[in-house]
Amino acid sequence: MPTNMSIDRDSYLSSDSVCGDDAPPPHLVERADDRPTFSGHGLSTQSVHGGEQRQKPEGSITQPIFTTSTYTFESTADLLRFVKGEDIREEYGRYGSPNEKSVEAKLAALENAEDAIVYSSGMAAIVGLFMTKLESGDEIVFFDQCYHRSREFCSKHLARYGVVTHQVPTGDFAAMEAAINDRTKMIVSESPTNPHLTCIDLEKFVAIGKANEVETLIDATLATPYNLRPIDFGVDYVWHSATKYLGGHNDLLAGSIAGRRELLDPVRKLRGVLGSVNSAHNLYLLERGMKTFELRMQRHNENGLRIAEFLEAHPRVERVYYPGLASHPTHAIAAAQMRGFGGLITFTVKGADWEATARVVDAAKIARIAPSLGGVETLIEQPLVMSYYHCTPEERVRFGIDDNMIRLSCGIENTEDLIADLKQALDA
Ligand SMILES: Cc1ncc(COP(=O)(O)O)c(C=O)c1O
Repeated sequence: MPTNMSIDRDSYLSSDSVCGDDAPPPHLVERADDRPTFSGHGLSTQSVHGGEQRQKPEGSITQPIFTTSTYTFESTADLLRFVKGEDIREEYGRYGSPNEKSVEAKLAALENAEDAIVYSSGMAAIVGLFMTKLESGDEIVFFDQCYHRSREFCSKHLARYGVVTHQVPTGDFAAMEAAINDRTKMIVSESPTNPHLTCIDLEKFVAIGKANEVETLIDATLATPYNLRPIDFGVDYVWHSATKYLGGHNDLLAGSIAGRRELLDPVRKLRGVLGSVNSAHNLYLLERGMKTFELRMQRHNENGLRIAEFLEAHPRVERVYYPGLASHPTHAIAAAQMRGFGGLITFTVKGADWEATARVVDAAKIARIAPSLGGVETLIEQPLVMSYYHCTPEERVRFGIDDNMIRLSCGIENTEDLIADLKQALDA
């Protein structure tokens, strides 16, 4: 250390040490600067400008892609200002990056949340949250209609660490409350659920959480902040697979958790240890996708509703699951708490076995056969032979997966073209 620097060694290398400290050091939990949230503005204004520095490097209008794993310090004095928390800036890619901060602040603005943390996938986000919040002996209660990997993570993997998961029938609040005990830390649901599109009454869900002093988590991937903002209902954590509508172009994987700052600080700190972060290129794609979020969602909603209505009226269709239809069991809840109903539709083909159902899927000319949802391209799949292929027949019955079920993720193509394509596929 140069002798001309007036540094008191002990005061710099003592209580604020990053290692072994319960309180997260400032650079692991704080944003680099106060970014505009455009609170009170429309969603497109928020998604185009929210969370961005007004003046970017070299006057660039877009967020430059920072392809760096590490960040240099001018001098040791500069470094020491940083480790003392006097200068909030980047240090090392696992703890944050300019591209990440921009996306996180934009996401928080869209969710009306104090903060948001971005992960390398939706699953990485839920693993990060649960690993932070749960320990051996803790319990969580889930509504049972859920993304099958969430269920798998809880029942197979959290169980190995002594965390107990209770699954109760979706929407059965009495069963949920009965499953809560002194060890319960969190109640969890999707809304709408995948693939049955069941919507959860968030006022009741939050009331149960508050009455029992347990935290609440909603996977709002299918809803998106365009259609539903769970934070406004008092939900503690909002989880997204940003791979879906937020990215919107079927070209990236990402996930996020949004909520109050004090709850998320330790989650962010653990992400810095787990390392489930995105590359700058990925974050740039996510940010670029988010700029057109509202426009895309308007078309997804329009396509979803009109195609659901078309399917419901088609003689070869037995049942349509879409929360925008009056026939959906949770339509009233959806209509009361959502702005639109999204682009995902599940339907069954009348009198069809699995092969006749597969022929409908194969006959589609615009919709492409693939897992995932929420992108600009329309995707079609038969859950039996896609996500649920490896389940036993008993499990498929339990999860409500029928042989003649088709899941359609409406993209943003023209509505008439998609309807004509489905018509010829059903009529074939
Ligand atoms: C509702 C829902 N939540 C979470 C996930 C997991 O997200 P990811 O695939 O980005 O890990 C998915 C993935 O399909 C999903 O559909």
